[in-house]
Amino acid sequence: MGRIAYVNGRYTPHAEAAVHIEDRGYQLADAVYEVWAVFDGKLADAEGHFARLSRSLGELRVPEPMSRAALTVVLREVLRRNRIRNGMVYLQVSRGVAPRDHAFPTAPVSPAVVVTAKAVDPAAAEAKAAKGVAVITTPENRWGRCDIKTVGLLPNVLAKQAAKERGAAEAWFVDEMGLVTEGASSNAWILDRDGVLRTRDTNANILRGVTRLTLMDVIREAGLTVSEKPFSPAEAIEAKEAFITGAGSLVLPVVAVDGKPVGEGVPGPVAKRLRALYIERAKNTAV
Ligand code: PDD
Repeated sequence: MGRIAYVNGRYTPHAEAAVHIEDRGYQLADAVYEVWAVFDGKLADAEGHFARLSRSLGELRVPEPMSRAALTVVLREVLRRNRIRNGMVYLQVSRGVAPRDHAFPTAPVSPAVVVTAKAVDPAAAEAKAAKGVAVITTPENRWGRCDIKTVGLLPNVLAKQAAKERGAAEAWFVDEMGLVTEGASSNAWILDRDGVLRTRDTNANILRGVTRLTLMDVIREAGLTVSEKPFSPAEAIEAKEAFITGAGSLVLPVVAVDGKPVGEGVPGPVAKRLRALYIERAKNTAV
């Protein structure tokens, strides 16, 4: 984690950075967040993440804390002060500080803004991708508005911990129809037996992944076929390849589901190619 955080208008040493005990994000998870991947000190898929942030805030009826231009300055400044070239930048916006009450505060409060950043070693990330990761599956038990990127992530936390305890990097939620919705912090994909790249449609209760959306363009440009058709864990195990996408994972090959190998049990050529194409595109369009 970087040494400097931004908290409500101030750049503060990380160890001293704190929010009020009655911050509604802390007490009630009444807050939203975004994560941008960072390449060469610049924000990847900047526009997509800003657009989703506005949407999440709108759904919570939290006012925009500052203009997009001002927010961009803050995100970049946190990266600069922490000397981060490659990694991630995290933004959290809560409704603000008010005496605890489930309903919105009656007196107007300012949204509380926190920004932190983290360096990622690109070589280590590539080594991880070259090996691929395992995923487990777990019953979908989240609320009905997973399209809002809120900090209310307890089911995701428990799913991720279950994955970790079973030697896996991600947990895929499976709905009552037996179909994968998404991962605890990523979207889920397969390359099916017919050579079609498949990921869950966004009419389902999932986060509209920004990386997912950009990758769809990348896939079409590469002349490959994409379909927003859901798949089951069994289909993933029978698939040629599987992978996950997200600002943290970028495009990360999945080599096993619930302990069973996907394809040859090693990262597939399509996932590897899409990772390289996505990173190239993200670097070229980063701001
Ligand atoms: N997670 N689904 C969930 C539940 C997520 O939390 C994320 C991102 C994604 C992928 O979205 P995107 O491509 O826009 O990053 C899908 C971030 C990285 C996190 O929680 O750290």
